[in-house]
This record gives sequence, structure tokens and C-alpha cells, in this order.
Amino acid sequence: MIGNLNHVAIAVPDLDAAINQYQSTFGAFVTTPQDLPNHGIRVAIVNLPNTKIELITPLGEASPIQNFLQKNPQGGIHHLCYEVPDIAAARDKLAAAGMEVIGDGMPTLGYHNNPVLFFNPKDCLGALIELEEVASLKSQSRVEIELLATHKEPPSSHNTLEGTRGVGIRVEVDYKRSTPQDNKEDN
Ligand code: CO
Repeated sequence: MIGNLNHVAIAVPDLDAAINQYQSTFGAFVTTPQDLPNHGIRVAIVNLPNTKIELITPLGEASPIQNFLQKNPQGGIHHLCYEVPDIAAARDKLAAAGMEVIGDGMPTLGYHNNPVLFFNPKDCLGALIELEEVASLKSQSRVEIELLATHKEPPSSHNTLEGTRGVGIRVEVDYKRSTPQDNKEDN
């Protein structure tokens, strides 16, 4: 049922210091921080080739990650987010298996304007789990690499590119990006 790991969220006491570490020390691309008042957090996204890290810090006194940072003053891994194609169906399946959805069970819009839900860590091996409905299927992406090798000599039996005059690489990427409209949101 679950698909890609969409992101790992790390709660941090000092967002600027965290961004600086990921940019300068780890050498990653980090987005400009954004306030998510509905979620009580300020977030910057670290884009990695295969997933994302969300650096999150409390926004406002009632932030849901305030308690977490009191217990983990230096910060720590806060939650894992898995992609699902249909969040209502996923919620119902997990609820039927005895997992407690946090809140009233109605998905809210996350950072990417996709519906999200959280499940109680006590039912999920101690890890807070977020599900995010992602309509776009990354399996639709298509990468084709074409080797246009011209050998001076007949190709050797061990398939190296030795003697190759030219190598052409063609990459086709066909991501169907999800939009709020894809998720039938009005705003
Ligand atoms: Co998240």
C-alpha cells in the first residue's frame, strides 16, 4: 500500500543553523524556509536525489513539536512520511488494523498541498508516521539512455567503451506533477 518514502522530518531548535549545516557541511540544496501556520511549524526542505529531509522548527507557542523539542533539546528525527495513492483508503485500512490516527481523521493539507494524516507512534514501532496522498506516480517517469557508440574496431567481447568515438545520452523525464486540482482541492 505505501509507496515512496516522501521525507524524513527532523525537528530542530535552530532552523538557520540546521539549514547552514545541510548547505555548507553536507553540501545539499535546501529551500528557503516557509511558515506553515496550520501545522505550527516553520520548514525548510533538503532535496536529495531519492527523497527529502524536512527541517522543522516550532512556529508559535501551540506548536505540536514543542513537546518533542523539550524532550529532545538538540533536535531529533520527528517522523517518516510515506506516499499513498488514496489517503482515505489507507486511513481506513490502518484504522481497521488498530492503528490510531491522530486528530479527527480528516486529512489536512501538508507542505506540498497534498492531503496528509499522522498515526500514533505507539502503534507504529515507536515512529510517528505521516501518510501523504500523492497522485503523481513517479513510476511514470521514464529515463532512457541510449548509447550511440561507434567503434573503430569491432566491439570487443567484454563490452567496454574503449575505442568509442561518441556516446550520446538521451534522457526523457515525464513526471506528472500533482497539483491541488489533481487532488480535487478547490483552493
Ligand atoms: Co512531514
